[in-house]
Amino acid sequence: MRHQNNLNGVNMEFEELVKTRRSVRGYKKDPVPLKVLQEIIEVAKGAPSSMNTQPWHMHIITGEPLERIRKGNTENMIAGVAPKRDFPMKESYEGVHRQRQVDVAIQLFEAMGIERNDKARRTDWVMRGFRQFDAPVSIVLTYDKYLEPAAISQFDLGAVSYGICLAAWERGLGTVINGQGIMQSDVVREHANIPDDQNIMICIAMGYPNDEFSANDVKSVRANNEDFVHFVGFDESHNKPLEKPKKEMA
Ligand SMILES: Cc1cc2nc3c(=O)[nH]c(=O)nc-3n(C[C@H](O)[C@H](O)[C@H](O)COP(=O)(O)O)c2cc1C
Repeated sequence: MRHQNNLNGVNMEFEELVKTRRSVRGYKKDPVPLKVLQEIIEVAKGAPSSMNTQPWHMHIITGEPLERIRKGNTENMIAGVAPKRDFPMKESYEGVHRQRQVDVAIQLFEAMGIERNDKARRTDWVMRGFRQFDAPVSIVLTYDKYLEPAAISQFDLGAVSYGICLAAWERGLGTVINGQGIMQSDVVREHANIPDDQNIMICIAMGYPNDEFSANDVKSVRANNEDFVHFVGFDESHNKPLEKPKKEMA
């Protein structure tokens, strides 16, 4: 059994890993060794997928090409080029979804000391996302275009993404899954050399967390189970205390 020895998740047990992980939006400049990236992918690819199709491609980008993506994304956003995704997406959330979106934004802005009316700093915060949070690595996840309508493959990419985040966290690396980095999908496609027959789904910024960056401490809130769990067919018999497992005979 492994034990915690580092706040960023090194050698944690599973539950602790899941409970301590959070999105990281400020990074040290240190590069991520290729060997560590390979280990992370080796773990994450154990994710289940629909009929074991494993429909993901991972474009792992660093250095000069990533700098060109940051620059291209920034220039396009400043020039007002409309974001372009490779698949249809809901533009805005409603009700409780909108509320949760607002709540986490408030948590992040409070941590960063960004006031509601501080337009310059709010804009700067948004631009960080388009720069992949200045992380040393960005992993762009894509799937083959012919899979459209690809909801089930997109689900599979979600599963493998979470594996990447947890395997990274276990190795002291932070991540943030983000749509901002690939919103200008033409820029990403060009500089990451992504073939035209793949749809760009999402990206994951990754690097060693900058402990001075206060938004990295934000722990987002989760709804109560009663708000989203619907047990069906359970009755009193399921409230019985668990029997202790019998000792194995020698
Ligand atoms: C599909 C997806 C897209 C996301 N896009 C962004 C994004 O564009 N910018 C950002 O700062 N965070 C983004 N996030 C991170 C979420 O805001 C974050 O996971 C959520 O607030 C919960 O916080 P936690 O990851 O710290 O637990 C995204 C997460 C997911 C799963």
